[in-house]
Amino acid sequence: MRTSIQAIQAMKAAKAPIALLTAYDFTSAQIADRAGVPVLLVGDSLGMVVLGHDTTLPVTLDDMVRHAGAVARGSASALVIGDLPFLTYASEADAVFAARRMMQEAGVQAVKLEGGAAIVPIVKRLVELGVPVMGHLGYTPQSTMQIGIRVQAKDDAGAQTLIDDALALEAAGAFGIVLELIPHALAAEVTARLTIPTIGIGAGPDCDGQVQVWHDILGLYGDKPPRHAKRFAEIGQQIENALKSYLEEVGAKSFPPAKR
Ligand code: KIV
Repeated sequence: MRTSIQAIQAMKAAKAPIALLTAYDFTSAQIADRAGVPVLLVGDSLGMVVLGHDTTLPVTLDDMVRHAGAVARGSASALVIGDLPFLTYASEADAVFAARRMMQEAGVQAVKLEGGAAIVPIVKRLVELGVPVMGHLGYTPQSTMQIGIRVQAKDDAGAQTLIDDALALEAAGAFGIVLELIPHALAAEVTARLTIPTIGIGAGPDCDGQVQVWHDILGLYGDKPPRHAKRFAEIGQQIENALKSYLEEVGAKSFPPAKR
């Protein structure tokens, strides 16, 4: 049985930290499931780490449906959340269309949308229609052209707007909110004021849970991880070493071994 949204919310109540991880394909989802990751996020970060774009903006709904479907098929126990990509939820009709494809075609259990007050009516409508929605505030990568990659809500006005947005998303029925790149004290305050879980990335240790990007924590992307990530393994280096060994052995004709 998959992790339920109620189970995630109960973890907040029990003060049990919630670990989310991104995943983008079948094999990785199987590994994450075996490791016991309770929630997998098929993030539109796949635009960068899988598809090689500079931002998440070029990611299409077809991209998301394909990758989310693979993750849903690869996992049996995790709650699978899929991002709705850039401009696919600009209107209620678009959001319903995108959420339907993600839930019916890809098989995710919930979707994630970026933004505050502007998307509250859309979140409300999706929730009314039975779509579980996770919010995403702070640094919202789909707005990177407007806001740049930097810590958000650093001044009092920005902090108040973020708190208001978080409360409005909760009132609209969001079951949790990702807080990305905001001051740690603000994340702590939002976490204390909400009854739904906050999931931090670059938002400090006081959120109800944390989310990390698969490639960042496994050493698969870029020369050094973002400041908010920790490399728990250097799998990229291990793959490179393995490939060199393969090349050497084929070159030396020691692989495949002579027929016995
Ligand atoms: O796209 C993504 O991977 C995300 C996480 C970083 C929260 O939105």
